[in-house]
Amino acid sequence: MATIWDPKQYLKFAAPRLRPALDLLGQVYQSDVKTLYDLGSGTGNLVPFFRDRWPEASIIGVDNSKNMLSAARKAHRDVTWIEADIASWQPDESADLIYSNAALQWLPEHEVLFPKLLGFLKPSGALAIQMPRNHLAPSHSLIEDVIHSNGLVDKLRNAEALLPVLDPEVYYNILSPFVGDLNIWESEFIQILDGDNAVAEWTKGTALKPYLDILSEEERKVFFDQYSTLVARAYPVRPDGKTLFPFRRLFIVARM
Ligand SMILES: C[S@@+](CC[C@H](N)C(=O)[O-])C[C@H]1O[C@@H](n2cnc3c(N)ncnc32)[C@H](O)[C@@H]1O
Repeated sequence: MATIWDPKQYLKFAAPRLRPALDLLGQVYQSDVKTLYDLGSGTGNLVPFFRDRWPEASIIGVDNSKNMLSAARKAHRDVTWIEADIASWQPDESADLIYSNAALQWLPEHEVLFPKLLGFLKPSGALAIQMPRNHLAPSHSLIEDVIHSNGLVDKLRNAEALLPVLDPEVYYNILSPFVGDLNIWESEFIQILDGDNAVAEWTKGTALKPYLDILSEEERKVFFDQYSTLVARAYPVRPDGKTLFPFRRLFIVARM
């Protein structure tokens, strides 16, 4: 079952979700970008920043969520929005930049996909990717705990769950034979979140979503309540009302 993305839930934490996207963009040194593809473009958050850097570029956003694309189309009329699955997508023309923030972790077989994306670049082009690599943290491992303790393994077997992002060294091995320059780094962001149940609200818009979508209303409530209690213990609210949520992310910029 395909995950139905909810722009409103996703954008609740727009600021901490934007920061890694900008860190990634900050390491893209292409001065002349005419054709830019944003893979898993979501609601088009990055468009103003792309425009700022490369005012004349053709920007093409690719996403397989009708909800996200509909929000993107309303917000940015000067961009071409394409509904497609990144796994089978092919560009109409070679790219100066293929950029993807927080999307490719939903796709399998990076050892095949990433070299294929390099093949869509111009000889001077770049591939820039950011993916969360937080699957060992309680925010993500507790999802598995709740699935098991509620006997939901079979029911949730076909959920389009987040795949663990591989070790940085594996991406080096996958990409280095094909590129002239490779920049790989990880950052752990200490995200400072407001509001009740902040970490559960965060994952509700991403990692938890494929599971919640499959459950009945009653199951969903039990699941989310149990998960919320466990994550609240792992990430307690501080006396000032803030919740600190450390979150690891992997960045890759490959230049041909
Ligand atoms: C976490 S959001 C990131 C959105 C945007 N890149 C940003 O930084 O705000 C992930 C996006 O990837 C899209 N996505 C996930 N799997 C996809 C696939 N196989 N093909 C196309 N888009 C996909 C989702 O629909 C969603 O809009």
